[in-house]
Amino acid sequence: AAEAQTVSREEVLTSHPFNNVTEGIFAKIGANLHRRPDHPICIIKEAIYAFFDERQPGVFAKLEDLHPVVTAKANFDEVLVPADHVSRNPNDTYYIDTETVLRCHTSAHQAETLRKGERAFLVTGDVYRRDTIDQSHYPVFHQMEGVKVLDRSQYSDAAEGAKVAEQELKETLEALAAHLFGTGIECRWVDAYFPFTDPSFELEIFFNGEWLEVLGCGVMEQQILDVNGCEGEKAWAFGLGLERLAMVLFAIPDIRLFWTSDQRFTKQFKAGKLNAKFKPYSKYPPCFKDVSFWLPEAGFTENNLCEVVRGHAGDLVESVVLIDSFTHPKKQRTSHCYRVAYRSMDRSLTDEEINDIQENVRASLADQLKVELR
Ligand code: PHE
Repeated sequence: AAEAQTVSREEVLTSHPFNNVTEGIFAKIGANLHRRPDHPICIIKEAIYAFFDERQPGVFAKLEDLHPVVTAKANFDEVLVPADHVSRNPNDTYYIDTETVLRCHTSAHQAETLRKGERAFLVTGDVYRRDTIDQSHYPVFHQMEGVKVLDRSQYSDAAEGAKVAEQELKETLEALAAHLFGTGIECRWVDAYFPFTDPSFELEIFFNGEWLEVLGCGVMEQQILDVNGCEGEKAWAFGLGLERLAMVLFAIPDIRLFWTSDQRFTKQFKAGKLNAKFKPYSKYPPCFKDVSFWLPEAGFTENNLCEVVRGHAGDLVESVVLIDSFTHPKKQRTSHCYRVAYRSMDRSLTDEEINDIQENVRASLADQLKVELR
């Protein structure tokens, strides 16, 4: 079994006014899905390790037990996230206090790992983001960060170095996709923006009828290298989402399944077995509930709504979708209607328990988010 991370309740659920970590999120810390040998997240991590070990034996250091509680400095400043970037907003990130967060990406470890002297490394860990709810979004997921500083012999000047880095990065990740999925997989590169890379790209994979973003990457910003012991060097970096890759590889239809302890799920995966396709054991019926309300003047966000729903429903909520919005011409007030889909991965739900949850959700929406229920 994976050793538990030692993160105390007091350390995470502080009474600091800025703290927005929930009980549900606290309960996930230390689960270490990426270190449980027969778990799909660990299986895919090992497959990526195997790819890099085969390509460049002994080159990449592997770090997978770095603490998820990090400074805002490491999570944002050290990777050049601008002061006004949305990801810094407590609507998107879990803050413990103004200076401390649950990392929202494994890029939080880029700078410190360079300072430790590593020049090629893979950092794997759980990351945390406030977000909306659907089958491919969950507030805790796993990323693997890859960083490779080029050898000086690979280029003669900075411009050439940047080109070589971009080329090596794309070649490496295309080969990785082929290694994981076979050459038949449909992939596409999309231009992107990240504060820590330039140029930046995303790789998308076609899955279940839609393009799914599975990784972000790019040529590392010079400043990050320059101030962390790699002055004038060139490097590439990527950050990939292990759940997304595992969903595609094993045909897992809902991200909540990674958290189930139902043996009908867990027994389907074995360390080293990459070709298992998930066999749904049963699809229990969803139950839809609509909730309509006038938005409060003080403001409203979907992430806050979703946090409330998850607080009461836990993993029983499958999606939350805005189905109607209108502004009353005279009153100048806006009304939203959301459709919440409840569905268990493991069993049938009773009307009674769903009604109870929905009542609690409604009460908390009025109470905590100050909406006016209709
Ligand atoms: N940190 C980025 C994310 O979470 C991914 C990324 C990593 C992009 C490294 C570029 C380089 O979306």
